Formats: sequence, C-alpha cells, structure tokens
Amino acid sequence: MRRVATLYRTTVGKKVLMAVSGLILFGFVFTHMLGNLKMLLPPEGGHFAMDVYAEFLREIGYPLVPHQTLLWVARLGLLGAVFIHILSAVQLSQASRAARPQGYAKEESLSLSYASRTMRWGGVILLLFIVYHILHFTTGQAHSSFVAGAVHQNYVAAFQSPLVYLVYLVAQTALCFHLYHGVWSFFQTLGLSHPKYNHLRRPFAVGFALVTFVGFLTPPTLVLAGVIS
Ligand code: HEM
Repeated sequence: MRRVATLYRTTVGKKVLMAVSGLILFGFVFTHMLGNLKMLLPPEGGHFAMDVYAEFLREIGYPLVPHQTLLWVARLGLLGAVFIHILSAVQLSQASRAARPQGYAKEESLSLSYASRTMRWGGVILLLFIVYHILHFTTGQAHSSFVAGAVHQNYVAAFQSPLVYLVYLVAQTALCFHLYHGVWSFFQTLGLSHPKYNHLRRPFAVGFALVTFVGFLTPPTLVLAGVIS
C-alpha cells in the first residue's frame, strides 16, 4: 500500500493511474456502446431486447449474491475510476503549470494536437453529460416521461426530441476526441512502444474512437428518423 502511495506522488505514478483508470472507463464505455446496440434487435418473446438486457445487468450474479449486488459493485468501481482519473488529471496539469510558470511559447502550443488541447474541456463536458445522463436514464428526474425499468420506451421517448439528440451528439463528439487522445496517450504512458508497430498507434486510436462514436449514435439516429419506435 505504501509503495502505491509513493508511486502516486511521482508524475509517472499519476500518469500510470490516469492510464489505468482511463482503461477501466474505456472498457465500460465500449461495453455500454455494444449493449446499446440491443436497440437494433427485434423483440424476444414479447419483450424488447434492450429491456431483457437491462434486466440481466441489474440482476447479474443473482441468486449467488443478493439482488443488484454486482450492479452496485460496478457502480462504485466506476465512480472510483472517475475520481482517480479526474484527480490525477488535475494534479498533473497543476504540476506541469508549476514547472512552466510562463506558459508555452506559441509555436509549441500549436504543435500540440487539437485533441490534446481539448482534453480538459472535453473532460468537463463529459462529466456534465454523465450527471445529466444518470438523471435522464437511471433516476429519471430529467424527463417527465421516464418510466422506471422501461429502458426501450425511455430510449425512444428521449431521442424523438431533436434537442435531446443534439445534447447526445455534442457529448459523443467530445467523447470521440477524448478517446482518440486517451487511447493514443495510453500506449505512450505505459511505454508500449515498438518501432515496428508505432505507426499503427494513431490509426488504432482513431478506429476505436470512431467505432464508439458510430456505435453509440446509430440507435438514437434511427429513433430520430422514425425507424425504431
Ligand atoms: C448515445 C449515447 C448513449 C446512450 C443512448 C446511452 C443510454 C443509456 C441507457 C438507456 C442507460 C440505462 C440503462 C438501464 O437502466 O439499464 C444508460 C446507463 C448508463 N450510461 Fe449511458 N448511454 C450513452 C452514452 C454513455 C456514455 C458516453 C457514458 C459515459 C461516459 C454513459 C454512462 C452511463 C452510465 C454510468 C450508466 C449507468 C447508470 C447506472 O445505472 O448506475 N453512457 N445509458
């Protein structure tokens, strides 16, 4: 435990924690995107595929463990990962500012990629989005039409509104840039470098970010177009 605390005090330690917590969050986001594709499937035995899947997620592990135990373990794990990710981001940015009080010269800042410069604001947009998203689909306070447990119905009701669609479009665009730069930095931080494969890092990061973007937005776009109801 003391070794972890000592490692965390170093810049490298913070970067590693940021990369590992980012990987956990990325794993969740990618799985969540795949799960949302259930909206594209036809109903099974009179139940919407999305509702069957959501019920499965809520009850995963039962009867071995009490109802919703693993759901809560996953929620707390995600919350911990979000906390560590934000804390290390803030501390790393403070440390780099302290090491360079006058700021960067113009040419250097231009050489930073667009994605890396938007990491901070993208992160803030994503945090605000997650708060809205939970009020929208989990607790239901954000929309009066919310019905607990009726995920398919809540989903369709949500994306029939162009305004809600726009909010999600903006958030997914921020996520796309965040993932692109995050996946790319992940290799860098953990030193996963090999001259033979380094040229693949950027296309790999672009590919993952785009697959996530298209995967998340396909079902809402079909709802907005009236294809899914
Ligand atoms: C187009 C994009 C998205 C759509 C349509 C969507 C849809 C949904 C729906 C319908 C649920 C509720 C599932 C249920 O009640 O079983 C949910 C839960 C959740 N979503 Fe998303 N989601 C999207 C993107 C995201 C992103 C990008 C994140 C995180 C960065 C995210 C984080 C969460 C979390 C943490 C929950 C679970 C809340 C909980 O039950 O504790 N979602 N999402």
